[in-house]
Amino acid sequence: MTDQLISLPTAERDDAAVAAPSPWWRDAVIYQIYPRSFADSDGDGIGDLPGIRSRLPYLRELGVDAVWLSPFYASPQADAGYDVADYRMVDPMFGTLDDARGLIGDAHDLGIRVIVDLVPNHSSDQHEWFRRAITEGPGSPHRGRYHFRAGQGEHGELPPNNWKSIFGGPAWTRTTDPDGTPGDWYLHLFAPEQPDFNWEHPAVADEFRTILRFWLDLGVDGFRIDVAHGMVKAEGLPDVDDSVEWHLLDAGVNPCFDRDGVHEIYRSWRRILDEYPGERIAVAEAWAPTHERVANYVRPDELHQAFNFSYLGTEWDATAQRKVIDDSLEAMGKVGAPATWTLSNHDVVRHTTRMLQPNDGDEVAGRRPIDVDPAAGLRRARAATLLLLALPGSAYLYQGEELGLPEVVDLPPEVRQDPAFHRANGQDGYRDGCRVPIPWGGDEAPYGFGPAGGRSWLPQPDSWAQLSVAAQQGRPGSTLELYRAALALRRSDPALGSGKNLTWREAPEGLLVFDRTPHFRCTVNMTAEPIRIAMPGKALLTSGPVELDGAEVEIPADTTIWWAV
Ligand code: NOJ
Repeated sequence: MTDQLISLPTAERDDAAVAAPSPWWRDAVIYQIYPRSFADSDGDGIGDLPGIRSRLPYLRELGVDAVWLSPFYASPQADAGYDVADYRMVDPMFGTLDDARGLIGDAHDLGIRVIVDLVPNHSSDQHEWFRRAITEGPGSPHRGRYHFRAGQGEHGELPPNNWKSIFGGPAWTRTTDPDGTPGDWYLHLFAPEQPDFNWEHPAVADEFRTILRFWLDLGVDGFRIDVAHGMVKAEGLPDVDDSVEWHLLDAGVNPCFDRDGVHEIYRSWRRILDEYPGERIAVAEAWAPTHERVANYVRPDELHQAFNFSYLGTEWDATAQRKVIDDSLEAMGKVGAPATWTLSNHDVVRHTTRMLQPNDGDEVAGRRPIDVDPAAGLRRARAATLLLLALPGSAYLYQGEELGLPEVVDLPPEVRQDPAFHRANGQDGYRDGCRVPIPWGGDEAPYGFGPAGGRSWLPQPDSWAQLSVAAQQGRPGSTLELYRAALALRRSDPALGSGKNLTWREAPEGLLVFDRTPHFRCTVNMTAEPIRIAMPGKALLTSGPVELDGAEVEIPADTTIWWAV
């Protein structure tokens, strides 16, 4: 049996960049940092910006092109920072604005670009506008910046419409007037602590344009737009027909998601991004029912990329995978945008655990984690990652997947912090399991996440000592070394990430075989049995052990091989 690593290229990053004709973002590998769980510099159990700064050399060595930081702004943390109280301030829990400046500067020095999260659909209920809307009472001019409405029923005791919160329960909360009597209701598509902005109000649009400029001036390379499909609501906020399932993907019939009006906002943002040098970008977190509707967000005068949630939710089946890859490339190709590929993020079950689960019909397969055999899960996840990194376009990785971290499925309810978990009485909202802090090294928790003897805001499993960066570094066959090798190979051949070319080759059932360049082929066995084929060329990298002597090769179950042909 061979090791996973067959050969490593020596090409330098800068050579590749010079050779690449297209802008950096079209084929970038972008690594998502979830700040509270990445690295803790001060021992309070919560990761922070100085912690991230100290780990940038690790990311450089891993070989990513950019990082995307989930929100680190001033926030009461009702939804882990996706409830922003001040869009221009760093929460003291994460550091200071100077720390943000320092981080951006250090990252740039290492050749890593920085994308920050922007949360324009809603603010925190502690945002100054919303606080004033409440304390100033019904006549407050600040109410127009959110969706305040009188309730229905004789005494206004019923919500203004039948919309539901994504986190469970009604999408409306009733306010109390300054004189103590029950007042109007306000809209929140997420938690009650996250009131939705009214994007019809000009002050909202103005404010976000200045927020964009604030961070662009500070040097960020782009934005990840939270709930990018949500800002515009149907006029009159009409009830939803009871026969329509209230679901994120019911756009088109859904009065608050994927409305055509959002695109006007992105056109104005694109003009701002284009004013700045260096190809600043925006990536949409846009849930829409078809690839074509998602592609609307990345038309030439709108945003640059959109997350490919269809791909993330597609089961491990050769026919289904081939179809989602083809459909994605076709839809994005029509508008001239690169496809994006991602398997994990801070909202879904880690793919090491998820990919063995049956597709439960949720919009993201297996959102509810089940216990799976860790070795089998890791094997499939590694195969899936090598497939993803062989596809044309931009790849998003989520912190810890390069260590093969599994979902933590047994967090006790009392440590869970996902607001959806508590709002849905523990029936939903399992997002804490993918947010457990990163193990960097050592034999005891917090495994280098923070200072020795320190804490971590969610408990790390004992088994994570073997999964730490220190434990995997330099160990042949480790998941960390597999990622490093894959990213180095990808970088050594600029044609690999970029370009639209993907040529499917005929293959036995359950085996995906495609070429990316005249010299690069990828084979993926998606079945539970080995598949024997004629040796296509020289193996560059394998996601698991493979016997490579002879005229034929037996590709084990759940295994991907990159070939030089
Ligand atoms: C999507 C974010 O990824 C998620 O974490 C958050 O809860 C919602 N948007 C609301 O902001």
